[in-house]
Amino acid sequence: MSHADDTASVKIDIDLFLAAQDRKDQLRFITCGSVDDGKSTLLGRLLYDSKTVFEDQLSATVVESHKYGTQGDTVDLALLVDGLQAEREQGITIDVAYRYFETDKRKFIAADTPGHEQYTRNMATGASNADLAVILVDARKGILTQTRRHSYIVSMLGMRQAVLAVNKLDLMGYNQQVFDQIVAEYSAFAAELGIEDVRCVPLSALHGDNVFASSASMPWYTGPTLMEILETIETHRDNGAGRFRLPVQWVNRPNSEFRGFSGLIASGTVACGMSIIAATSGRSATVSRIVGPSGDLDRAQAGQSVTLVLDNEIDISRGDIIVERGDPPEVADQFAAHLIWMDNEAMLPERPYVIRLASTTATAQITDLVHRIDVNTLDFLAAKTLELNDVGYCKIALDRAIAFDVHADNPGTGAFVLIDTFTNATVGAGVIDFALRRASNIAWHDMKIDKAARARINGQKPCVLWFTGLSGAGKSTVADQVEQKLLGMGKRTYLLDGDNVRHGLNKDLGFTDQDRVENIRRVAEVAKLMVDAGLVTLVSFISPFRSERQMARALMEDGEFIEIFVDTPLEICEARDPKGLYKKARAGELKNFTGIDSNYEAPLDAEIVLKSDEHDVDVLVDQVIEHLLARQ
Ligand code: ADX
Repeated sequence: MSHADDTASVKIDIDLFLAAQDRKDQLRFITCGSVDDGKSTLLGRLLYDSKTVFEDQLSATVVESHKYGTQGDTVDLALLVDGLQAEREQGITIDVAYRYFETDKRKFIAADTPGHEQYTRNMATGASNADLAVILVDARKGILTQTRRHSYIVSMLGMRQAVLAVNKLDLMGYNQQVFDQIVAEYSAFAAELGIEDVRCVPLSALHGDNVFASSASMPWYTGPTLMEILETIETHRDNGAGRFRLPVQWVNRPNSEFRGFSGLIASGTVACGMSIIAATSGRSATVSRIVGPSGDLDRAQAGQSVTLVLDNEIDISRGDIIVERGDPPEVADQFAAHLIWMDNEAMLPERPYVIRLASTTATAQITDLVHRIDVNTLDFLAAKTLELNDVGYCKIALDRAIAFDVHADNPGTGAFVLIDTFTNATVGAGVIDFALRRASNIAWHDMKIDKAARARINGQKPCVLWFTGLSGAGKSTVADQVEQKLLGMGKRTYLLDGDNVRHGLNKDLGFTDQDRVENIRRVAEVAKLMVDAGLVTLVSFISPFRSERQMARALMEDGEFIEIFVDTPLEICEARDPKGLYKKARAGELKNFTGIDSNYEAPLDAEIVLKSDEHDVDVLVDQVIEHLLARQ
């Protein structure tokens, strides 16, 4: 055979091979487990036995096995997987890593997520687009809280099948009873969660028992190996079936000739000629072109990024969802949802967070925490907050109506994350249970007499002077004198003082973080009404948290909110101790006292900063009045 012929036959083989590859279906799975249960070893074993690991990588692993390995002179397969230096040195995995490998039958994408409690966030991320969860249990430890928590999240995300991989049976003498007991316990729990299909397999990932090959050490197990399960389990993915949803990521308008709506199709199929609507406005149009990365398409389906061109100009902006006409999603500003909390700082009802759902962002507040769930017993517990890794059920209100689906109908447009407004960290993740229309029968009534009319008659520009600072900083003293001065100048004012408002409207609130959030929410709403009434409103509350002061600011119009930080060092407030409260707090007789065992977050950009330790009250009062005169 000539050299040229050789090349041709190789080429044909490659084409056949690539065609076969394309036809192979794909399984995306997530591995969940706790620290040290052998997850990385199992994944390493899958990569190694599927020959996905190349020679050079393997020799590097052999070298590192001696350096960091926990397996003496044998190759530590976990090192193949624990790619990051930090992980190796700490002996834990800290990120979501996606591993690709394949066999003759299937391609696999494994989301490798950390087992450490504090990384539930990564686990939820990895699970959100998986077909199957492989729940790994250490045979020596059995079912742990972490196993249950992960299983809860798996079920919350709508997965109805799981593999229970009972690992390290070699360390339990390959004992069938150990396996049977764990299976019985887990099956009962999974059934309660609605995970209908659980396949259980006894393993030793380290020695390869029942991973690819049946184990000679466990003749009592006659079921499929883990690989056989992974190769044959059905994926219930709808690949283009289902309801068409295109969350619009951006409006593509390179010139006046072209206007298209771009995004990643979350579910369903779109075809040229399809009649669509923009979810939030309900306006309809017909798809005239579908532009993909390499040109025009007749149709496109879930997972593809496209730009749709419509036959007529309807108003669609980023965050809206384009859907097939006749199949609208929900459009609401409130919904009930399952929520996982992922931040060290507890979730506080009524605190504003940023919600991101598909391509939309909005401001969200958890209005009611209906219950927290004990992941061990699945009991519903009364709770005021959710702490790190807690799961709960809540009602969420947004600052505007957005389009979404109920998660059970359409996961891509029914799941969301919550983000801290200051740190931008993801603090929670959830799935929508149903839309709420509680306030939708209440319309805002525009009255004949408005804020401008009241302001005119009062001859002033209404605003809020928001005094914040520690107890004993001098807020109320300064506010009181500022009010007297303003009154002397003929201004109409009102002073809302923390101690006073807590005697009435806020009598039911204490000093826990969540009560303080509610305290500030109420007084901010009252201040807004007073500004609407045309008054110069003085608020004198500790208001210790930035989020809530920001929320109060956001309620007012631009320029109406003047934050005044009465910046007095703690030592001085404590030395003054006008009400003897610091003394009590130090003696442990008063809990959650600001500055002692409750946090005060100083303003970063207050309009006015008053140094009460450096100046007399008169000077501070003048400072405020001058600021006001300069503004008006
Ligand atoms: S805030 O933190 O929720 O804004 P607010 O200004 O309403 O507090 O109330 C603070 C006043 O309540 C203080 O001036 C003090 O007199 C009193 N007080 C009683 N217990 C506490 C406490 N644990 N922490 C702070 N202030 C307290």
